[in-house]
Amino acid sequence: MYKIAVIPGDGIGTEVIDSGVEVLKALSKSVQNLPIEFHQFDWGAEYFKKHGVMMPDEGVEELKSFNSIYFGSAGVPEIPDHITLWGLRLKICQGLDQYANLRPVRLLPGIISPLKNIEEKDIDWSFIRENSEGEYSGIGGRSHRGYSHDTAMDVTLFTKQGVERIQRFAFEIARSRPRKLLTLVTKSNAQRHGMVMWDEIFDEISQDYRDVNTDKMLVDAMTTRMVLDPKSIDTVVASNLHADILTDLAASLSGSMGIAPTGNLDPEKRHPSMFEPIHGSAFDIMGKGIANPIGSYWSAVMMLENLGELKAAQKLMSAIEKLTSDKKYLPKDLGGKSTTKQITKVMIDIISGKNSK
Ligand code: IPM
Ligand code: MG
Repeated sequence: MYKIAVIPGDGIGTEVIDSGVEVLKALSKSVQNLPIEFHQFDWGAEYFKKHGVMMPDEGVEELKSFNSIYFGSAGVPEIPDHITLWGLRLKICQGLDQYANLRPVRLLPGIISPLKNIEEKDIDWSFIRENSEGEYSGIGGRSHRGYSHDTAMDVTLFTKQGVERIQRFAFEIARSRPRKLLTLVTKSNAQRHGMVMWDEIFDEISQDYRDVNTDKMLVDAMTTRMVLDPKSIDTVVASNLHADILTDLAASLSGSMGIAPTGNLDPEKRHPSMFEPIHGSAFDIMGKGIANPIGSYWSAVMMLENLGELKAAQKLMSAIEKLTSDKKYLPKDLGGKSTTKQITKVMIDIISGKNSK
């Protein structure tokens, strides 16, 4: 029995995770031997309004007894974003040392990329984002508020251990993919300490992975390569902030922010990993019932893969691809008119074989 902690959170997070759970329940029924037990957590902005915190202090400890975490998003317009982010998502990622953030990017069948003359096979990328330190270390401070010399400092922290473990993880992913090409993205011309260390460690580790081809890009140039030469890219590793920015671009190039999934992984499996769509709360459309649930389905695929349930993962991914290639029931951001509920029903029908055309 898999025990899944479900944290829908805020905004459209609740809409797409509810949909994902329904779809997973249908999958669990249709695949042999996939018993799943869902445990709902009401953490997030509503919890904050009642208790003054996004999740209880002992919450991270509680999550350790689960096999996996299925997360929606954190944030509402009336609470500053850094409070909702640090109080929930980052608290879990750091607390469970989920240091590897994996972001697959593919142009799914039937989906239209904003890039011209592009085929499905031209975008098949795997982004690996450092997820525990770097620009998101949380170290820094603020002083002299209210004076003209108001001062603020965010420290970007890179440790040899932190850089080495994410790069090794990226080399392993690159090795497992047919093209075996790993691109290191930095800004080591301007950030002359930490990012230079990233380059040095990369050169060192690459000696252990002689079967993996490598190259290096500065982050600004990488944006151009993604737009002008997407075919040339395979696996990419970058710091927390750089990869955050690049993967928004990647999601849009592959059709929409609404599709993109992610896994916050503890590759050593000391603790559960956490899976979520990357789009966030989407204040502009929340509560309207039109959110794109594909990112949450694809995140569920990653969760099943992480649990070793490869057949179930494949079945869910095929259902997503059937949904997108049929083009009949697509959400608004993909040019369709279907609501989240309608798409949920179509997915359940596909999975349970009611829609076998
Ligand atoms: C992401 C998101 C988050 C991040 C936001 C919601 C804080 O943009 O998962 O990419 O920056 O990590
Ligand atoms: Mg982001």
